[in-house]
Amino acid sequence: MDEKITDRELREISQISLADPHLSFRPLSLLKQSAEKGHLLTIRRRRALMGWMECFPLLRDYWSVSSLYIRPSYRGKRIGINLLLHALRSVENKYVYAATANPRLKRELLGRGFRRVSLREIPIPVLFSLVIKRYSDPRTWNKLLGKTFQSLQHFWRMPQK
Ligand SMILES: CC(C)(COP(=O)(O)OP(=O)(O)OC[C@H]1O[C@@H](n2cnc3c(N)ncnc32)[C@H](O)[C@@H]1OP(=O)(O)O)[C@@H](O)C(=O)NCCC(=O)NCCS
Repeated sequence: MDEKITDRELREISQISLADPHLSFRPLSLLKQSAEKGHLLTIRRRRALMGWMECFPLLRDYWSVSSLYIRPSYRGKRIGINLLLHALRSVENKYVYAATANPRLKRELLGRGFRRVSLREIPIPVLFSLVIKRYSDPRTWNKLLGKTFQSLQHFWRMPQK
């Protein structure tokens, strides 16, 4: 998982985040920063990029996982779930926020100590940090307000240790 992500791959990740109806849009500049800080996790077979996700700090001990994506030809092999579990293990001692409309991922989060919450249950400074850090681009809002995201549910996990 440690191979350095290339600019070309970052551009592709940004394009896919715009095109895939299940993902939030991530501008290239944001992905570059995320990769530099080690918050963009990738999974490869040999050198080929199979998938990625973000695991990043919001505020103090509050983190978020997002943007899980596995290329279609690698799906159905639990690669996505394993990447998610790898990320969740690294933030076991943090508060973790996640949002998804995917029934498979919802089940997985609920089985890993998350509970479903309404946005009102998340501390305002944490939400504010999420908006500043991940929703500063209008294209992100365009997608968020689109159809898929009407079934988006919010999940929250307390520190496990
Ligand atoms: C969601 C996603 C990351 C799951 O990754 P994955 O590595 O395929 O995960 P899994 O192998 O555990 O499969 C997930 C489900 O898809 C089903 N599946 C099987 N083969 C599949 C295939 N070829 N294509 C898609 N889904 C398949 C599996 O049966 C499994 O359902 P089940 O556990 O109820 O049986 C991946 O489908 C994806 O990238 N989707 C598009 C982006 C997205 O929705 N991201 C989530 C945003 S919150």
